[in-house]
Amino acid sequence: MSRIIDGKAISAAVKERVKKGVAELDEIGVPVGLAVIIVGDDPASKVYVANKKKACEDLGIISEEYALPAETTQEELLSIIETLNKRPSINGILCQLPLPKHLDEKLIINSILPEKDVDAFHPHNVGRIMIGDYDFVPCTPAGIMEMLEAEGIDVSGKSCVVIGRSNIVGKPMGMLLLHKNGTVTICHSKTQNLKEICRGADILVAAVGRAGFVTADMVKEGAVVIDVGMNRVDGKLCGDVDYEAVKDKVSVITPVPGGVGPMTIAMLMQNTLTAAKKQNNIKG
Ligand code: GUN
Repeated sequence: MSRIIDGKAISAAVKERVKKGVAELDEIGVPVGLAVIIVGDDPASKVYVANKKKACEDLGIISEEYALPAETTQEELLSIIETLNKRPSINGILCQLPLPKHLDEKLIINSILPEKDVDAFHPHNVGRIMIGDYDFVPCTPAGIMEMLEAEGIDVSGKSCVVIGRSNIVGKPMGMLLLHKNGTVTICHSKTQNLKEICRGADILVAAVGRAGFVTADMVKEGAVVIDVGMNRVDGKLCGDVDYEAVKDKVSVITPVPGGVGPMTIAMLMQNTLTAAKKQNNIKG
């Protein structure tokens, strides 16, 4: 029988911790503020942004939403970010990705002040993760580390395999596991012997973006399996792992929905609180 990690419960505990921290700052006259920018009408992005706004409201974080039309120019977007960079009441700035094709994503990300970059996408923060001296971690890998810790899963010395090498999940995930002394392999679409490599994993993180990609013959008996997938199949949300086939073979698994997903927003809230503390020289 495998243990199913309850992402909702763990994220609720993180949010409770953040709520307390936000209230403590409020008491000393430091309100916490997050600006969320969305360009265009991508339906999935709209849902994510609405969820982020709701989480802010629940935790006492002041949120400002900038819902911009799809035809917004680069200059207009950069000008909004520049204004937000300068406002002390805005501690975090998040620009929801993907952006419409005519906008230069890299340039936009780089224009957010690193100390307000609560996504940890700016090269400054990416570099800090690399050297293990960081304030912000991208929300999904941060959420996974929080889950492993909450479940008492020790990474040290374990064989950790991450499938997917994106800048948002795969690469930072690998670095965080490495910082915890895991022996890390990052696999991708060109990896040879993927099945064998995955079968050697004590901890397997699937961030592929393909429903049911990880099958039972790809996992080791007793492994820990973390499913980052958020795929829509016939309107139903499914992970990257063939959950029904894999769940009885492994020791621990995250479900979809209710696993990694809820952690992501909780960690964004945590990064926003961290930003407010850093900007106001508040320790802890
Ligand atoms: N789009 C999908 N995931 C994310 C995320 O974590 N941050 C931002 N800004 N955009 C996203």
